[in-house]
Amino acid sequence: MKIFIANWKLHSDFKMAKTFLSKLKDSEYSKIVICPPLLYLHSMQDILKFKNLEIGAQDVAIANDEKQTGAISAENLKEANASWVIVGHSEQIKRHSMTLEDINKKLMYVLEKDLNAVLCIGEGVLERKQNMHFDVVKEQLSVILDKVPSFFAKNIIVAYEPVWSIGSSKAASVSDIMSMITFLKKELTRLNLKDCKVVYGGSVHSGNAAEILSVPEIEGLLIGRASVEAEELYSIANAE
Ligand code: PGA
Repeated sequence: MKIFIANWKLHSDFKMAKTFLSKLKDSEYSKIVICPPLLYLHSMQDILKFKNLEIGAQDVAIANDEKQTGAISAENLKEANASWVIVGHSEQIKRHSMTLEDINKKLMYVLEKDLNAVLCIGEGVLERKQNMHFDVVKEQLSVILDKVPSFFAKNIIVAYEPVWSIGSSKAASVSDIMSMITFLKKELTRLNLKDCKVVYGGSVHSGNAAEILSVPEIEGLLIGRASVEAEELYSIANAE
């Protein structure tokens, strides 16, 4: 069963969230995880659960340290029935000037609190131009997944999100996604984490989802802008 993670970022307001909820259907053929703004988690949880959708958060505190004004703890997220957290998104990294070691710390915090992680990795535009993308993601995986025990693999989804593609109008090409997914699967096996699922994210919409989902070994999609409209999200999730 493929998994579709909806990362709403700041693309929604409460009215849109309510419209979204009114159009929800049971998801039988795919797993859908909705990551709304934190403020909406509590009010959306009952309906999302009723419709068999899972709830995720767009971010969490970096560790179990009470001195983080403005952050939210894993316990808070669990109280709102969230079972997933997006970790290491390039927009989080930029906003908090995070290092790969910080992401490793956040990932371990999430996993040790029995939450599942959507771990984002991917190269920047220059790194792609200089043909360094495989080296970059290899380094990201080696540091972020350092000392992550293999029994946590089933709780991690690795999302390949080339930074140049996020929020643009340009998804990566099918052949680039294909070669990266094959590479990631090999690296995850080398790191004893072969049970991690691998998905793609970056400018996905209903017009390109079927093509991207045709990539062998791809196990789902991480969707930003296009995930706020229920009809659009369902057509992406049924695009295979
Ligand atoms: P996008 O965002 O689909 O709007 O490009 C994807 C993401 O940031 O996860």
